[in-house]
Amino acid sequence: MRVLAVGGGAREHAIVTALARSGAEIFACLKNMNPGIARTARELLLTEETDIARVVQFAKAKRVDLAVIGPEAPLEAGLADALITARIATASPSKAAARLETSKSFMRELLSKHKVKGAVRFKIADSREEVGRALDELGTDIVVKPIGLTGGKGVKVFGEHMMDKQDIIAYTDEILSNKIGGSARVVLEEKLVGEEFTIQAFCDGRKVVPMPAVQDHKRAYEGDKGPNTGGMGSYSQQDGLLPFLRRDEYDTAVEIMNEVVAALRRESSEYRGTMYGQFMLTAHGPKVIEFNARFGDPEAMNVLSLLTSDFVKICEGMADGNVSKNLVRFEAKSSVCKYVVPEGYGTKPLSGTEIKVDEAAIADEGAILYYASVNEKNGKIYTTTSRSVGVVGLAGPIEEAERIAENGVKHVSGKIHVRHDIAKKDMLDAKVQRMNHIRRMSA
Ligand code: AMP
Ligand code: GLY
Repeated sequence: MRVLAVGGGAREHAIVTALARSGAEIFACLKNMNPGIARTARELLLTEETDIARVVQFAKAKRVDLAVIGPEAPLEAGLADALITARIATASPSKAAARLETSKSFMRELLSKHKVKGAVRFKIADSREEVGRALDELGTDIVVKPIGLTGGKGVKVFGEHMMDKQDIIAYTDEILSNKIGGSARVVLEEKLVGEEFTIQAFCDGRKVVPMPAVQDHKRAYEGDKGPNTGGMGSYSQQDGLLPFLRRDEYDTAVEIMNEVVAALRRESSEYRGTMYGQFMLTAHGPKVIEFNARFGDPEAMNVLSLLTSDFVKICEGMADGNVSKNLVRFEAKSSVCKYVVPEGYGTKPLSGTEIKVDEAAIADEGAILYYASVNEKNGKIYTTTSRSVGVVGLAGPIEEAERIAENGVKHVSGKIHVRHDIAKKDMLDAKVQRMNHIRRMSA
């Protein structure tokens, strides 16, 4: 099987590793020289991932049978549609279906129109007057989001990034006048209180087959402080749930994802590919924060490191419209992923500096290494403005997986930053207590 893989981060290194494990020959399109992908792939094309014509030409020239797209930008640019037109089976959604991620107004309106469970109150505004009316209706305890893609960095939350009505108006003005996220419109939505979790699922257009739940940590600094980032690290638990997440709550979130797939089908945007649901577990159950039309990064590293069944077959199933549950098997272990990022990541990342990665020592610790947005030049590894290296530990208990990941991270050096608190026992206990408190308050 000859497979095209698009993207150059740690998520894509994990995708490529899983495909290669299932016997695929990899042809990779990426814009940075990721040494992990370079080593695994048979051939590389260094290119902008949104250069549809070049990527499709490469895929045709290499006679690939199947394609998997990692990041959101090429999905928005219509790469899946172009590959399908070129008769290449594609395990990623069309541009229309990917609006679930690429347009926050589309997503909110879809959930509302089709009465999907877990929807929240929201308003869409394209002028200061409409923002004023939305605030009259929703109050100020809200979250403000640009409509389009902002790399996870465009969301501002009342009480954290905006302290009063003035701040809200200043930020909505900024979005409207600078077209942040690509359009002069903004979503204002109810602020949810609870614990966040992610469910990723394989989707064949009609139903989803879910993966273990994962919790990511978006804030740059320890104690969940500082600016939002693409994600600093993540963990999953051996039973597929999370310390604060019950089975019935997990099942509700999966039901929401199935309802979304049905809603998209009714809108003639059949969704084929990995779907990512981001939920807030509130006092009233899981509510939708956002959807992504792809694997999460870092969350892909958690689940793909645990996948024991044939990933190529799953991708073929998504592309052909037939993924059955018995194609999907995960090892019953917990996983912890810690991201090594350049100093200053989240505000002013130090790009172009050399880091040292002792691969043999990381393997000796029993940890798994995924290269992210780095560049290899003359045998040396240099940072970019994005995350550098993901290190994953797998074990029965979360604490053991955490220790393995921590031991692994020690063998990366340079001007780097790591959130050591992720998945530590204190942090997990605090989350369980906080969630129990929220549940009690509503009882
Ligand atoms: P997003 O880019 O939509 O994932 O948002 C980034 C982060 O903002 C999320 O991970 C949440 O922490 C926060 N957030 C987004 N929407 C809401 C909401 N409705 N209520 C509370 N927090 C939210
Ligand atoms: N970890 C969040 C994302 O991939 O968007």
